[in-house]
Amino acid sequence: MSAAPPEYSDSAARPAIARPAIARPAARLDGVAALPGDKSISHRALMLGALAVGRTRVTGLLEGADVLATANALRQLGVTVARQPDGAWTIDGVGIGGLVAPDSVLDMGNAGTAARLLLGILASHDLRAVMTGDASLCRRPMARVTEPLSQVGARFDCAEGGRLPLTVWGARAPVPIVYALPVASAQVSSAVLLAGLNTMGETSVIETAPTRDHTFRMMRHFGCRVSSAHGRNGTRFTVGGWQEYSAADLRVPADPSSAAYPLVAALLAGSGTVTVRGVCLNPLRAGLYDTLAEMCANLAIENRREVSGEPGGDLVAEAGALNAVTVPEGRAASMIDEYPVLAVAAALANGTSRFDGIGELRVKESDRLAATADGLARCGVSVRSGDDWMEIDGSGGRPVAGTGPDNPVATMHDHRIAMSFLVLGLASRDGVAVDDTAMIGTSFPGFVPLMQSLGAPIEDLADPADRPTGE
Ligand code: S3P
Repeated sequence: MSAAPPEYSDSAARPAIARPAIARPAARLDGVAALPGDKSISHRALMLGALAVGRTRVTGLLEGADVLATANALRQLGVTVARQPDGAWTIDGVGIGGLVAPDSVLDMGNAGTAARLLLGILASHDLRAVMTGDASLCRRPMARVTEPLSQVGARFDCAEGGRLPLTVWGARAPVPIVYALPVASAQVSSAVLLAGLNTMGETSVIETAPTRDHTFRMMRHFGCRVSSAHGRNGTRFTVGGWQEYSAADLRVPADPSSAAYPLVAALLAGSGTVTVRGVCLNPLRAGLYDTLAEMCANLAIENRREVSGEPGGDLVAEAGALNAVTVPEGRAASMIDEYPVLAVAAALANGTSRFDGIGELRVKESDRLAATADGLARCGVSVRSGDDWMEIDGSGGRPVAGTGPDNPVATMHDHRIAMSFLVLGLASRDGVAVDDTAMIGTSFPGFVPLMQSLGAPIEDLADPADRPTGE
């Protein structure tokens, strides 16, 4: 069974009305889940397509609100971005240095990746732009990118605490820098490399802790002059500036972060097998799958293949017992978005699991460390946490208690918290209610119908009058 793709909507706006839901126990989950495209790769495909010369055609682009925010911002910067009748997206690149000043505010919605990467591009374009986002994005730290981009020569006027909304004045004569990342963030690394494209000379970032390398891989796919060198201090990525590169077609693989929800749900269900095809298996994104293997999950990788410069494959998950696991700090960057759903798996495992070095979770779309710990506790799971660690006592396979609509899990408007706790509901005794599912559309449009197509009893608790028309 394969779920129908979700309806495409051109809106990047956050739905104003909360959409509570409840996931009830699932005896069996079965089928093939058709997953949306990878969010990280989709943002980069639009941005690198915009700076290429010629028309880039992208298939499998994620049509979630975050990526639509990138598309809209690029349009405001003078790029023609269009969805074709066959579902592919085309970007008519303006060439490096060819963006024009926007005449209205760039609203990045909930999308931290879009905001930070685009600031990198803007930093080396001689123009002024104002950028904002939703309440969550306006709380997130931007100094991590404005600091290196100021070294490039850009100027920023930020809201208090170095946050959005901000005004950026891109550098007229950008300076090539060598930047050693103080925090393991692919967004920061990518912002600096993207700024380097319109900077004379060579721009480098040095990563002591590796982060997802999609920007580097995609630059290579487009034929840009980039190199990497491994040394005692980490890996140095270098991009040559003022180069012209041509458009290149791209296929976006399925998102391993989104795949995690149906796969973990399948592992925790009473019985059944769930398959997801064509998933990005870049080793710098695959930390969750390595961890699940350590937990003795029934999870197989089949048909390994390369798609547009990224390793990929099919994943098959089958219900079965899980062991507890200790996840070291060094693995955090390769699975940073997957800790909430891993915590759900740990809640059902045999023994106590521990995750170290996860402080970055506190500055995601919500404070995910707190939101995960609070949600688990509300569902009757024994959990302890500190500044940058969490410990979870697993139930040994027995369903966790869960929590009903009167005391729903507080998602803090965070898509990954909402999806993770709906997955927990499928392995609970009384079901798990969450206070909102509307934000799931930022990364995984069609999540609820897809899970339902696999047999997941998830029920929309929104007042029918509050549901979008057409449903
Ligand atoms: C992303 C990098 C990660 C991740 C985010 C997407 C990217 O953030 O959490 O969802 O596409 O570069 P950091 O690199 O800031 O940890």
